[in-house]
This record gives sequence, C-alpha cells and structure tokens, in this order.
Amino acid sequence: MESMAATVTPEPEVSSAFDEIVALERTYLVQNYARYPLALHRGKGCYLYDLEGNRYLDLISGIGVNSLGYAHPRITKVIRQQAGLLLHSSNLYYHEYQGRLAERLAKISGLNRCFFCNSGTEAMEGALKMVRAHGNTIRREKTNIVSLDNSFHGRTLGALSITGQPKYRRDFEPLLPGAQFVARNDAAALEAAVNENTAGIVIEVIQGEGGILPVSEAFARKARELADRYEALLVFDEIQCGVGRPGSYFAYQLFEPAVVPDIVIAAKPMACGIPLGVIVANEKAAATLKPGMHGSTYGGGPLACRVALEFFDILEELLPSINSVGVYFRMKLTEMMQQFGFIKEVRGQGLMIGVELDFPCKQLVLDGIREGLLFNCTHDTVLRLLPPYIMTEQDVDRAVAALTKIFRNTKRPEPAA
Ligand SMILES: Cc1ncc(COP(=O)(O)O)c(C=O)c1O
Repeated sequence: MESMAATVTPEPEVSSAFDEIVALERTYLVQNYARYPLALHRGKGCYLYDLEGNRYLDLISGIGVNSLGYAHPRITKVIRQQAGLLLHSSNLYYHEYQGRLAERLAKISGLNRCFFCNSGTEAMEGALKMVRAHGNTIRREKTNIVSLDNSFHGRTLGALSITGQPKYRRDFEPLLPGAQFVARNDAAALEAAVNENTAGIVIEVIQGEGGILPVSEAFARKARELADRYEALLVFDEIQCGVGRPGSYFAYQLFEPAVVPDIVIAAKPMACGIPLGVIVANEKAAATLKPGMHGSTYGGGPLACRVALEFFDILEELLPSINSVGVYFRMKLTEMMQQFGFIKEVRGQGLMIGVELDFPCKQLVLDGIREGLLFNCTHDTVLRLLPPYIMTEQDVDRAVAALTKIFRNTKRPEPAA
C-alpha cells in the first residue's frame, strides 16, 4: 500500500515553519515533554494534517480524547453557537447544561450525582477527597487507599500517590501516606490488603497507560465485596477506558451483572477535546462533600457541558459500531500474528486496543509517522490504539495495511546478551 502521507498544497494561513515552532518551544517551554517530530495543523474525520498538508490516520486521538475525530459537524456547530452565547459562568450561578449533563451521566452509570472538573487527574483528586472524607466520618485512622500495581491515575500529588508505577512517583516523594498497592487480579492480595482502616479501593477497570490490561470479573467482584465488608468506597477510574471506548458506556458494565462502584471518574472523550472531567458518585459517596469542601472555577462550564450533551446524543448511536469495528480491528491484528512472530498478544475491548510486541516499540511510533499512521507506545512494548469512535472498517483496513508495511520493514532488535 502507498504511504498515506500524501503531500498537498500548504494552507496559506500557516505562518510558522516546523523548525521555528520547535525552536520557540525549546526556548520558552518547561522541557517536560518529549514530543514526536510532528506539528499538527488541522483534522477532519479520523485524519489529521500537518503544517505541510501531509495526512495521518489517527489511531490515538490525542490519547483517547478526540472521540468524534476532527471537525465533527454537530460538535463544531454547538461550539460555534455556544461561543456566541456564554463560554464561562463559574459555579456561582446556574446555567442550562450542567444539570442536564449530570442527569445523563447518572442514568448511564447507575449512580446518582456528579461533580464536574476539567481533567482526569482533577477528577481523581476529588474522588480521593471523597474517600478521605468518608473515612474520616467513620474513624480518624480510616485513611488507607488500596490501588493496583502498574496503574496510572494522573500527575497531581494525590493521584500520583496511588499510581502503582514507581517511575512516576519517585521524584516527588514523600506523597500521601497510606497508599498500598496490590497486583492486578490477585484477589488474595487484595483481601490481605483491605481492612477496617481502608477508606477506598481505586481500580482502573482496564489499565491504559499500563498496557491495556483488564481486571477480571472475579477481581472486580472481590473489590466490591471487600469495599462493602469494610465500609470503604470503591472507585473505578474510567478516564481512559470509559465513556464509550469499550463499546459500552463504562467498562464495569461489561461484567454481567455490572459491578457498580461507589464512584466512577471519567474525562478524556466526554467533550471531544474541550477539557471536562467528572466524578459520578452514589448518594453515600456524594454526601461526603458538604458545601465549601470542594470546588472548581471552570468545572462544568456551559461550553464543555453543552458539547458533552451533544457527544452523548451521538455516542448512543455509535456504541454498536464501536463494538463491531473494535472486534474487526482486533481480528485483523490477530491475523497479523501469523506473519509477524514478534507480536505477542492483541487485546482490548471496543476501540481500546493493545498490541504487545516482544521488543520495545518506540521506534515504530516514528516509523508510523513516516507512514502516515499515528499511534503510541506504552509500557515499553505495547502499541496503544485509541482511535476515534467514528472509525470504520475501511479505516481499519488502511491502518492494518500501513502497519503491515511498517512491521515488514522492522528489524527486531537482537536481545541483549
Ligand atoms: C486511567 C487514567 N487516569 C487518570 C489520568 C489522568 O488524566 P489527565 O491527563 O486528564 O489528568 C489518565 C490519563 O491518561 C488515565 O489514563
């Protein structure tokens, strides 16, 4: 198949060349990001375009955020309309959309009440405050939080404290006391860790950053049982794995019957690129926050909430195709295993897919850019695919053809002696 990076005439409004952008960033930005050599200019559907007009099929959607792809007509329309009406109201006043969005989230989650914020880590912080406040109402010592090895919950200090990957935590220690980590799917270890001093259990239902690794139904049910037994709150972090991505509204609904948490947190795909995070809680968890105990200046503003309402209307119709296209994508990738012995496993749910290789895959991400295909490498050896929900089987065929070409040209590194 030909490269998808077909060159077209550059758009006239582009003023900065790539090198200028890089030079400015090197001079004026905190150097905390290791960016790929690509500057994006615009997008349409599942495709992105760089400054020169080269086209890229997007399999990562801004790390799971651009759920409806780019320039979706209905999303563009409501953003335009709302920009001419009211962008920000603060939480001093009411507006038309926050309550309606909360009602929608309550109905689809099986929970009761929402708190809106602006990012995933902020939702995690709020959930941790609920957990701590809950523990405090029972006993001063009830402060411990159990989470999983290999998890990722965000970059703020609270979220980092319960993130089960030492590389993210070590530069900032000491963090919150009372965090304990257990291995994913080790029900006996979870049982040994949870006791009357446990205020909360926090679980990613499918670990994203950790390599697209699901928790088993038995483990999720054990967590629910232990949370009930020891009066702890069960928190599911569905920032990456939730809100349509697994082919259901939430990944915990894939279990039958669903394992319903006390709190679910979500963010990334909900407002299609406009920052929005949410804590959805049952009455018990929601009651932990009394007036004045938590808040956000921007959280749940009219723009983000209106866009999210539009997103949920569209998502309802898209869920079946997220499922079927996801199944098709995983089938095609699994077929590739016969040709490429270095693919160890293809896994995932809906449009959250991991392709584990037997060597580090960072170089492949660069090869992908050259081939007009955007994806990401996580946990060293896992290609992470989080494409927009609007992806079709035709898009999958293109992606698979490009990946095949990339893999064919890949020299598996010799194992270290
Ligand atoms: C499971 C999970 N939790 C929390 C976060 C943090 O979200 P944000 O980057 O929006 O703060 C992420 C981000 O990737 C995530 O995947």
